[in-house]
Amino acid sequence: MKDKTIFECVECGYQSPKYYGKCPQCDNWNSMIEVQESPDEFSNTNKKTQKPIKLNEIDQLTIKRNLSGLKEFDRVLGGGIVPDSSILIGGEPGVGKSTLLLEVSGLLAKNGKKILYYSGEESAAQIKIRADRLKIDSDFISILTMATLENLKKAVQEVKPDFLIIDSIQTINSKRGSHISGSISSIRFVTSEIIELAKTNNITAFIIGHITKDGQIAGPKTLEHMVDVVLYFQGEFKSDMRILRAEKNRFGPVNELGIFQMTSQGLNSVKDPSQIFLQQSKSYNSGTSIFPVMQGFRPILIEIQALVTETPFTGNPRRVSVGFDAYRMSMLISIIEKKLKLPFYKSDVFINITGGMNIKETAGDLSVLSTLISSYKNLVLPEDIIIIGEVGLTGEIRPVNFIEKRIKEALRQGFNKFILPSFQSNLDHLKKISIFPVKDIYDFYNKIKEIKT
Ligand SMILES: Nc1ncnc2c1ncn2[C@@H]1O[C@H](COP(=O)(O)OP(=O)(O)OP(=O)(O)O)[C@@H](O)[C@H]1O
Ligand SMILES: [Mg+2]
Repeated sequence: MKDKTIFECVECGYQSPKYYGKCPQCDNWNSMIEVQESPDEFSNTNKKTQKPIKLNEIDQLTIKRNLSGLKEFDRVLGGGIVPDSSILIGGEPGVGKSTLLLEVSGLLAKNGKKILYYSGEESAAQIKIRADRLKIDSDFISILTMATLENLKKAVQEVKPDFLIIDSIQTINSKRGSHISGSISSIRFVTSEIIELAKTNNITAFIIGHITKDGQIAGPKTLEHMVDVVLYFQGEFKSDMRILRAEKNRFGPVNELGIFQMTSQGLNSVKDPSQIFLQQSKSYNSGTSIFPVMQGFRPILIEIQALVTETPFTGNPRRVSVGFDAYRMSMLISIIEKKLKLPFYKSDVFINITGGMNIKETAGDLSVLSTLISSYKNLVLPEDIIIIGEVGLTGEIRPVNFIEKRIKEALRQGFNKFILPSFQSNLDHLKKISIFPVKDIYDFYNKIKEIKT
Protein backbone atom coordinates (compact mmCIF):
# COMPACT_ATOMS: atom_id res chain seq x y z
CA MET A 1 0.00 0.00 0.00
CA LYS A 2 1.23 3.45 -0.82
CA ASP A 3 2.04 5.92 1.95
CA LYS A 4 -0.51 8.68 2.15
CA THR A 5 0.22 12.30 3.05
CA ILE A 6 -1.94 13.73 5.77
CA PHE A 7 -1.81 16.78 8.01
CA GLU A 8 -1.69 16.50 11.76
CA CYS A 9 -2.03 19.05 14.55
CA VAL A 10 1.01 18.92 16.86
CA GLU A 11 -1.04 20.22 19.75
CA CYS A 12 -4.02 17.88 19.78
CA GLY A 13 -3.33 15.15 17.21
CA TYR A 14 -6.24 16.08 14.90
CA GLN A 15 -5.68 14.58 11.45
CA SER A 16 -7.02 15.65 8.12
CA PRO A 17 -6.23 15.10 4.43
CA LYS A 18 -6.40 18.88 4.05
CA TYR A 19 -4.21 21.64 5.49
CA TYR A 20 -5.74 24.17 7.87
CA GLY A 21 -4.09 27.35 9.15
CA LYS A 22 -6.10 26.98 12.32
CA CYS A 23 -6.76 23.53 13.74
CA PRO A 24 -10.53 22.85 13.60
CA GLN A 25 -10.33 20.80 16.80
CA CYS A 26 -8.22 22.82 19.23
CA ASP A 27 -8.20 26.22 17.48
CA ASN A 28 -4.40 26.56 17.57
CA TRP A 29 -2.83 28.50 14.71
CA ASN A 30 -0.07 27.09 12.46
CA SER A 31 -0.05 23.82 14.33
CA MET A 32 -0.74 21.48 11.35
CA ILE A 33 2.26 19.62 9.97
CA GLU A 34 2.57 17.22 7.07
CA VAL A 35 3.08 13.58 8.07
CA GLN A 36 3.21 10.33 6.14
CA GLU A 37 0.67 7.84 7.28
CA SER A 38 2.49 4.59 7.51
CA PRO A 39 0.13 1.75 6.59
CA ASP A 40 1.56 -0.71 9.09
CA GLU A 41 1.51 1.64 12.04
CA PHE A 42 -0.81 -0.38 14.20
CA SER A 43 -0.70 -3.74 12.49
CA ASN A 44 -0.18 -6.34 15.13
CA THR A 45 1.43 -8.96 12.95
CA ASN A 46 3.17 -10.64 15.83
CA LYS A 47 0.00 -11.32 17.77
CA LYS A 48 -1.20 -14.91 17.75
CA THR A 49 -4.70 -15.51 16.46
CA GLN A 50 -6.76 -15.85 19.60
CA LYS A 51 -9.86 -17.94 20.06
CA PRO A 52 -12.56 -16.94 22.52
CA ILE A 53 -12.51 -18.78 25.86
CA LYS A 54 -15.39 -19.17 28.30
CA LEU A 55 -15.00 -16.94 31.34
CA ASN A 56 -15.36 -19.91 33.68
CA GLU A 57 -12.60 -21.77 31.90
CA ILE A 58 -10.00 -19.10 32.46
CA ASP A 59 -7.51 -20.17 35.11
CA GLN A 60 -7.75 -17.89 38.05
CA LEU A 61 -4.38 -16.29 38.51
CA THR A 62 -3.60 -14.58 41.72
CA ILE A 63 -1.67 -11.51 40.75
CA LYS A 64 1.30 -10.93 42.98
CA ARG A 65 1.99 -7.23 43.11
CA ASN A 66 5.54 -6.02 43.45
CA LEU A 67 6.03 -3.70 46.37
CA SER A 68 8.63 -1.04 45.71
CA GLY A 69 8.92 -0.22 49.39
CA LEU A 70 8.28 3.48 48.72
CA LYS A 71 5.06 3.48 50.72
CA GLU A 72 3.19 6.35 49.11
CA PHE A 73 4.10 5.14 45.61
CA ASP A 74 2.73 1.66 46.32
CA ARG A 75 -0.40 3.19 47.82
CA VAL A 76 -1.18 5.25 44.73
CA LEU A 77 -0.80 2.17 42.54
CA GLY A 78 -3.44 0.43 44.63
CA GLY A 79 -1.06 -1.63 46.79
CA GLY A 80 2.00 -2.29 44.64
CA ILE A 81 2.96 -2.65 41.01
CA VAL A 82 0.97 -5.14 38.90
CA PRO A 83 3.42 -7.23 36.81
CA ASP A 84 3.51 -6.59 33.04
CA SER A 85 1.49 -3.40 33.33
CA SER A 86 2.28 -0.08 31.67
CA ILE A 87 2.26 3.04 33.77
CA LEU A 88 2.34 6.58 32.40
CA ILE A 89 3.64 9.35 34.67
CA GLY A 90 3.14 13.01 33.80
CA GLY A 91 4.39 16.08 35.57
CA GLU A 92 5.77 19.60 35.20
CA PRO A 93 9.42 20.10 34.34
CA GLY A 94 11.64 19.67 37.38
CA VAL A 95 8.97 18.31 39.67
CA GLY A 96 11.01 15.15 40.23
CA LYS A 97 9.79 12.52 37.75
CA SER A 98 13.28 11.19 37.03
CA THR A 99 14.13 11.26 40.74
CA LEU A 100 10.99 9.30 41.61
CA LEU A 101 11.58 6.59 39.03
CA LEU A 102 15.30 6.29 39.72
CA GLU A 103 14.50 5.93 43.40
CA VAL A 104 11.86 3.27 42.66
CA SER A 105 14.41 1.54 40.38
CA GLY A 106 16.93 1.48 43.21
CA LEU A 107 14.42 -0.07 45.60
CA LEU A 108 13.29 -2.68 43.07
CA ALA A 109 16.90 -3.53 42.25
CA LYS A 110 17.51 -4.15 45.97
CA ASN A 111 14.80 -6.80 45.75
CA GLY A 112 16.68 -8.51 42.95
CA LYS A 113 14.75 -7.06 40.00
CA LYS A 114 16.51 -6.06 36.82
CA ILE A 115 15.90 -2.56 35.50
CA LEU A 116 16.57 -0.99 32.13
CA TYR A 117 16.49 2.81 32.42
CA TYR A 118 16.25 4.70 29.16
CA SER A 119 16.93 8.41 29.22
CA GLY A 120 16.70 10.62 26.19
CA GLU A 121 17.23 13.79 28.21
CA GLU A 122 20.28 13.17 30.33
CA SER A 123 23.65 11.56 29.76
CA ALA A 124 24.71 8.44 31.63
CA ALA A 125 27.05 10.61 33.73
CA GLN A 126 24.22 12.92 34.77
CA ILE A 127 22.14 9.95 35.82
CA LYS A 128 25.09 8.60 37.80
CA ILE A 129 25.38 11.91 39.68
CA ARG A 130 21.72 11.68 40.64
CA ALA A 131 22.07 8.01 41.60
CA ASP A 132 25.01 8.87 43.87
CA ARG A 133 22.99 11.59 45.51
CA LEU A 134 20.13 9.12 46.09
CA LYS A 135 22.65 6.51 47.30
CA ILE A 136 21.69 4.04 44.62
CA ASP A 137 24.32 1.71 43.40
CA SER A 138 23.39 -1.56 41.81
CA ASP A 139 24.51 -3.99 39.18
CA PHE A 140 20.85 -4.63 38.48
CA ILE A 141 20.25 -1.24 36.85
CA SER A 142 21.37 -0.70 33.23
CA ILE A 143 21.28 2.71 31.63
CA LEU A 144 20.63 3.40 27.97
CA THR A 145 20.74 6.97 26.66
CA MET A 146 19.80 8.82 23.48
CA ALA A 147 18.57 5.79 21.59
CA THR A 148 15.93 4.90 19.02
CA LEU A 149 13.09 2.46 19.52
CA GLU A 150 15.08 -0.14 17.61
CA ASN A 151 18.09 0.29 19.96
CA LEU A 152 15.73 -0.04 22.88
CA LYS A 153 14.27 -3.31 21.59
CA LYS A 154 17.78 -4.71 21.17
CA ALA A 155 18.73 -3.59 24.69
CA VAL A 156 15.63 -5.30 26.10
CA GLN A 157 16.64 -8.60 24.48
CA GLU A 158 20.16 -8.18 25.89
CA VAL A 159 19.36 -7.06 29.44
CA LYS A 160 16.08 -8.99 29.85
CA PRO A 161 14.83 -6.53 32.46
CA ASP A 162 11.84 -6.94 34.79
CA PHE A 163 11.19 -3.20 34.65
CA LEU A 164 11.66 -0.73 31.85
CA ILE A 165 11.78 3.02 32.50
CA ILE A 166 11.28 5.43 29.60
CA ASP A 167 12.41 8.97 30.43
CA SER A 168 10.67 10.44 28.47
CA ILE A 169 8.36 9.15 25.76
CA GLN A 170 8.78 12.42 23.81
CA THR A 171 12.50 11.76 23.37
CA ILE A 172 12.31 8.39 21.72
CA ASN A 173 11.89 7.95 18.00
CA SER A 174 11.64 5.16 15.56
CA LYS A 175 13.49 4.78 12.29
CA ARG A 176 10.43 3.08 10.93
CA GLY A 177 7.73 5.12 9.28
CA SER A 178 8.26 8.76 8.57
CA HIS A 179 6.83 10.22 11.70
CA ILE A 180 8.21 13.60 12.51
CA SER A 181 10.24 13.41 15.69
CA GLY A 182 8.15 14.38 18.70
CA SER A 183 4.90 14.57 16.69
CA ILE A 184 1.74 13.15 18.16
CA SER A 185 1.62 10.26 15.73
CA SER A 186 5.22 9.39 16.50
CA ILE A 187 4.56 9.42 20.27
CA ARG A 188 1.47 7.30 19.79
CA PHE A 189 3.35 4.82 17.62
CA VAL A 190 6.32 4.51 19.99
CA THR A 191 4.03 4.14 23.00
CA SER A 192 2.08 1.32 21.39
CA GLU A 193 5.33 -0.42 20.47
CA ILE A 194 6.68 -0.10 24.01
CA ILE A 195 3.48 -1.44 25.55
CA GLU A 196 3.60 -4.38 23.14
CA LEU A 197 7.30 -4.92 23.93
CA ALA A 198 6.55 -4.92 27.65
CA LYS A 199 3.55 -7.27 27.44
CA THR A 200 5.33 -9.82 25.22
CA ASN A 201 8.48 -9.88 27.35
CA ASN A 202 6.80 -9.84 30.78
CA ILE A 203 8.16 -6.42 31.62
CA THR A 204 6.52 -3.63 33.57
CA ALA A 205 6.98 -0.33 31.77
CA PHE A 206 7.05 3.09 33.44
CA ILE A 207 6.68 5.81 30.84
CA ILE A 208 7.38 9.46 31.69
CA GLY A 209 5.41 11.98 29.65
CA HIS A 210 5.83 15.75 29.41
CA ILE A 211 2.78 17.79 30.03
CA THR A 212 1.26 20.58 27.98
CA LYS A 213 0.49 24.14 29.04
CA ASP A 214 -2.85 23.11 30.52
CA GLY A 215 -1.39 20.24 32.50
CA GLN A 216 -2.32 17.27 30.33
CA ILE A 217 0.18 14.66 29.20
CA ALA A 218 1.32 15.85 25.75
CA GLY A 219 -0.18 13.66 23.12
CA PRO A 220 -3.77 12.86 22.39
CA LYS A 221 -5.98 11.39 25.06
CA THR A 222 -5.46 8.05 23.31
CA LEU A 223 -2.11 7.79 25.08
CA GLU A 224 -3.99 7.61 28.36
CA HIS A 225 -6.31 4.96 26.93
CA MET A 226 -3.39 2.81 25.85
CA VAL A 227 -1.73 2.35 29.24
CA ASP A 228 -3.04 0.61 32.36
CA VAL A 229 -2.29 3.36 34.85
CA VAL A 230 -1.93 7.12 34.52
CA LEU A 231 -0.25 9.03 37.33
CA TYR A 232 0.31 12.76 37.72
CA PHE A 233 3.16 14.07 39.82
CA GLN A 234 2.69 17.60 41.13
CA GLY A 235 4.64 20.05 43.19
CA GLU A 236 2.54 22.20 45.44
CA PHE A 237 2.92 25.76 46.71
CA LYS A 238 6.56 26.15 45.70
CA SER A 239 7.62 23.96 48.58
CA ASP A 240 9.31 20.62 48.89
CA MET A 241 5.95 18.83 49.00
CA ARG A 242 5.14 16.58 46.07
CA ILE A 243 1.81 14.92 45.36
CA LEU A 244 1.35 11.81 43.23
CA ARG A 245 -2.18 11.24 42.00
CA ALA A 246 -3.73 8.34 40.10
CA GLU A 247 -5.92 9.60 37.21
CA LYS A 248 -6.65 6.16 35.89
CA ASN A 249 -5.91 2.74 37.32
CA ARG A 250 -7.07 -0.53 35.83
CA PHE A 251 -6.03 -2.36 39.00
CA GLY A 252 -6.96 -0.08 41.85
CA PRO A 253 -8.88 2.94 43.05
CA VAL A 254 -8.26 6.35 41.51
CA ASN A 255 -7.90 9.62 43.37
CA GLU A 256 -5.63 7.95 45.89
CA LEU A 257 -2.94 10.47 46.85
CA GLY A 258 0.69 9.85 47.62
CA ILE A 259 2.45 12.64 49.46
CA PHE A 260 6.22 13.02 49.41
CA GLN A 261 8.82 15.42 50.59
CA MET A 262 11.70 16.22 48.22
CA THR A 263 15.04 16.16 50.01
CA SER A 264 18.61 16.16 48.75
CA GLN A 265 18.61 12.39 49.26
CA GLY A 266 15.45 11.96 47.21
CA LEU A 267 11.75 11.62 47.92
CA ASN A 268 10.54 10.57 51.35
CA SER A 269 7.00 9.33 51.98
CA VAL A 270 5.11 11.69 54.29
CA LYS A 271 3.60 9.71 57.16
CA ASP A 272 1.08 12.20 58.46
CA PRO A 273 -0.23 14.43 55.63
CA SER A 274 -2.94 16.11 57.74
CA GLN A 275 -0.20 17.57 59.91
CA ILE A 276 1.46 19.17 56.91
CA PHE A 277 -1.73 20.81 55.65
CA LEU A 278 -2.73 21.96 59.11
CA GLN A 279 0.65 23.43 59.96
CA GLN A 280 -0.04 26.24 57.57
CA SER A 281 -3.34 27.20 59.14
CA LYS A 282 -2.63 27.90 62.77
CA SER A 283 -4.38 31.23 63.01
CA TYR A 284 -8.12 30.97 63.29
CA ASN A 285 -10.14 33.78 61.79
CA SER A 286 -13.60 34.22 60.44
CA GLY A 287 -14.15 32.53 57.09
CA THR A 288 -12.09 29.41 57.72
CA SER A 289 -12.99 25.84 58.40
CA ILE A 290 -11.07 22.55 58.62
CA PHE A 291 -12.56 19.63 56.72
CA PRO A 292 -11.52 15.96 56.53
CA VAL A 293 -11.59 15.32 52.79
CA MET A 294 -11.38 11.74 51.51
CA GLN A 295 -8.46 11.11 49.20
CA GLY A 296 -9.07 7.59 48.01
CA PHE A 297 -9.71 5.67 51.23
CA ARG A 298 -7.75 8.07 53.41
CA PRO A 299 -9.09 11.22 55.06
CA ILE A 300 -6.78 14.26 55.07
CA LEU A 301 -7.55 17.44 56.97
CA ILE A 302 -7.50 20.52 54.79
CA GLU A 303 -8.46 24.15 55.26
CA ILE A 304 -11.31 25.88 53.46
CA GLN A 305 -11.22 29.69 53.29
CA ALA A 306 -13.90 32.13 52.20
CA LEU A 307 -13.81 35.85 51.73
CA VAL A 308 -17.07 37.74 51.39
CA THR A 309 -16.69 41.45 50.71
CA GLU A 310 -18.97 44.21 49.56
CA THR A 311 -19.16 44.52 45.79
CA PRO A 312 -17.82 47.88 44.57
CA PHE A 313 -20.58 50.31 43.72
CA THR A 314 -20.54 49.81 39.96
CA GLY A 315 -19.62 46.19 39.47
CA ASN A 316 -21.39 42.87 39.25
CA PRO A 317 -20.69 40.59 42.19
CA ARG A 318 -17.66 38.38 41.56
CA ARG A 319 -17.71 34.68 42.37
CA VAL A 320 -14.36 32.94 42.32
CA SER A 321 -13.64 29.45 43.58
CA VAL A 322 -10.32 27.63 43.68
CA GLY A 323 -10.45 23.95 44.60
CA PHE A 324 -14.24 23.79 44.97
CA ASP A 325 -16.83 23.46 42.21
CA ALA A 326 -18.01 26.96 41.21
CA TYR A 327 -21.56 25.79 40.44
CA ARG A 328 -21.83 24.17 43.83
CA MET A 329 -20.62 27.40 45.44
CA SER A 330 -23.36 29.33 43.59
CA MET A 331 -25.90 26.80 44.74
CA LEU A 332 -24.82 27.14 48.37
CA ILE A 333 -24.98 30.95 48.10
CA SER A 334 -28.51 30.76 46.70
CA ILE A 335 -29.59 28.47 49.51
CA ILE A 336 -28.18 30.90 52.09
CA GLU A 337 -29.96 33.84 50.40
CA LYS A 338 -33.30 32.07 50.12
CA LYS A 339 -33.39 30.35 53.50
CA LEU A 340 -31.43 32.65 55.80
CA LYS A 341 -32.26 35.88 54.00
CA LEU A 342 -28.63 37.01 53.94
CA PRO A 343 -28.23 39.31 50.89
CA PHE A 344 -25.15 37.85 49.19
CA TYR A 345 -26.12 39.47 45.90
CA LYS A 346 -24.35 42.60 47.10
CA SER A 347 -21.14 40.72 47.84
CA ASP A 348 -18.06 39.42 46.06
CA VAL A 349 -17.38 35.85 47.14
CA PHE A 350 -14.06 34.00 46.99
CA ILE A 351 -13.45 30.42 48.05
CA ASN A 352 -10.04 28.85 48.33
CA ILE A 353 -8.92 25.41 49.42
CA THR A 354 -5.40 25.88 50.73
CA GLY A 355 -2.35 23.88 49.75
CA GLY A 356 -3.53 23.33 46.18
CA MET A 357 -5.97 20.67 47.39
CA ASN A 358 -9.53 20.30 46.19
CA ILE A 359 -12.89 19.08 47.42
CA LYS A 360 -14.87 17.06 44.93
CA GLU A 361 -17.32 15.55 47.36
CA THR A 362 -20.65 16.88 48.54
CA ALA A 363 -19.69 16.01 52.13
CA GLY A 364 -17.79 19.32 52.17
CA ASP A 365 -20.93 21.44 51.46
CA LEU A 366 -21.74 22.36 55.02
CA SER A 367 -18.13 23.20 55.83
CA VAL A 368 -17.93 25.52 52.79
CA LEU A 369 -21.29 27.03 53.70
CA SER A 370 -20.04 27.69 57.23
CA THR A 371 -17.03 29.62 55.89
CA LEU A 372 -19.36 31.76 53.75
CA ILE A 373 -21.60 32.63 56.68
CA SER A 374 -18.64 33.06 58.99
CA SER A 375 -16.91 35.51 56.67
CA TYR A 376 -20.11 37.40 55.89
CA LYS A 377 -21.11 37.74 59.55
CA ASN A 378 -17.55 38.01 60.86
CA LEU A 379 -18.22 35.12 63.12
CA VAL A 380 -15.29 33.08 64.46
CA LEU A 381 -16.00 29.43 65.22
CA PRO A 382 -14.07 27.47 67.88
CA GLU A 383 -10.77 26.26 66.47
CA ASP A 384 -11.34 22.64 67.43
CA ILE A 385 -14.59 22.17 65.50
CA ILE A 386 -15.17 20.09 62.39
CA ILE A 387 -18.26 20.51 60.19
CA ILE A 388 -19.42 17.71 57.91
CA GLY A 389 -22.59 17.34 55.83
CA GLU A 390 -24.16 17.61 52.39
CA VAL A 391 -26.58 20.50 51.85
CA GLY A 392 -29.75 19.79 49.86
CA LEU A 393 -31.66 22.39 47.83
CA THR A 394 -34.40 22.68 50.44
CA GLY A 395 -31.76 23.42 53.06
CA GLU A 396 -31.81 19.95 54.61
CA ILE A 397 -28.50 18.51 55.85
CA ARG A 398 -27.93 15.11 54.31
CA PRO A 399 -25.76 12.21 55.45
CA VAL A 400 -22.32 11.61 53.95
CA ASN A 401 -20.11 8.59 53.40
CA PHE A 402 -17.06 7.50 55.45
CA ILE A 403 -18.23 9.59 58.40
CA GLU A 404 -16.42 7.55 61.06
CA LYS A 405 -13.15 7.50 59.15
CA ARG A 406 -13.28 11.30 58.85
CA ILE A 407 -14.13 11.76 62.53
CA LYS A 408 -11.33 9.43 63.66
CA GLU A 409 -8.74 11.32 61.63
CA ALA A 410 -9.97 14.62 63.09
CA LEU A 411 -9.87 13.20 66.62
CA ARG A 412 -6.32 11.99 66.03
CA GLN A 413 -5.36 15.56 65.12
CA GLY A 414 -6.92 16.97 68.28
CA PHE A 415 -10.35 18.14 67.06
CA ASN A 416 -13.20 17.00 69.29
CA LYS A 417 -16.27 19.08 68.43
CA PHE A 418 -18.34 18.01 65.46
CA ILE A 419 -21.35 19.46 63.67
CA LEU A 420 -22.86 16.47 61.87
CA PRO A 421 -26.03 15.57 59.92
CA SER A 422 -28.62 14.55 62.54
CA PHE A 423 -29.05 11.17 60.81
CA GLN A 424 -25.44 10.38 61.54
CA SER A 425 -24.96 11.82 64.99
CA ASN A 426 -25.46 8.60 66.91
CA LEU A 427 -21.83 7.83 67.64
CA ASP A 428 -21.95 6.90 71.32
CA HIS A 429 -19.11 4.42 70.98
CA LEU A 430 -16.65 7.23 70.23
CA LYS A 431 -15.15 8.67 73.40
CA LYS A 432 -14.37 12.29 74.34
CA ILE A 433 -16.29 13.86 71.53
CA SER A 434 -19.00 16.56 71.49
CA ILE A 435 -21.52 16.23 68.72
CA PHE A 436 -23.92 18.94 67.55
CA PRO A 437 -26.51 17.30 65.29
CA VAL A 438 -28.16 19.53 62.68
CA LYS A 439 -31.15 18.65 60.50
CA ASP A 440 -31.34 21.71 58.30
CA ILE A 441 -29.67 25.01 57.54
CA TYR A 442 -31.81 26.98 60.08
CA ASP A 443 -30.77 24.57 62.77
CA PHE A 444 -27.15 24.96 61.65
CA TYR A 445 -27.27 28.76 61.66
CA ASN A 446 -28.66 28.80 65.20
CA LYS A 447 -26.03 26.31 66.41
CA ILE A 448 -23.08 28.28 65.04
CA LYS A 449 -24.42 31.51 66.53
CA GLU A 450 -24.57 29.71 69.89
CA ILE A 451 -21.10 28.17 69.80
CA LYS A 452 -19.17 31.02 68.21
CA THR A 453 -16.21 32.29 70.15
N1 LIG B 1 20.83 18.58 45.60
C1 LIG B 1 19.51 18.63 45.65
N2 LIG B 1 18.89 18.79 46.82
C2 LIG B 1 17.56 18.81 46.92
N3 LIG B 1 16.73 18.71 45.87
C3 LIG B 1 17.29 18.56 44.68
C4 LIG B 1 18.69 18.51 44.50
N4 LIG B 1 18.91 18.36 43.18
C5 LIG B 1 17.71 18.31 42.60
N5 LIG B 1 16.72 18.43 43.49
C6 LIG B 1 15.28 18.42 43.24
O1 LIG B 1 15.02 17.61 42.15
C7 LIG B 1 14.23 18.31 41.19
C8 LIG B 1 14.61 17.84 39.80
O2 LIG B 1 14.20 16.49 39.75
P1 LIG B 1 14.10 15.69 38.41
O3 LIG B 1 15.26 15.97 37.54
O4 LIG B 1 13.84 14.29 38.83
O5 LIG B 1 12.80 16.31 37.78
P2 LIG B 1 12.10 15.92 36.42
O6 LIG B 1 10.63 16.00 36.69
O7 LIG B 1 12.64 14.65 35.91
O8 LIG B 1 12.52 17.13 35.50
P3 LIG B 1 12.58 17.21 33.89
O9 LIG B 1 11.20 17.50 33.46
O10 LIG B 1 13.51 18.34 33.67
O11 LIG B 1 13.11 15.89 33.43
C9 LIG B 1 14.59 19.73 41.41
O12 LIG B 1 13.55 20.59 41.01
C10 LIG B 1 14.78 19.79 42.91
O13 LIG B 1 13.53 19.94 43.55
MG1 LIG C 1 13.68 14.19 34.17
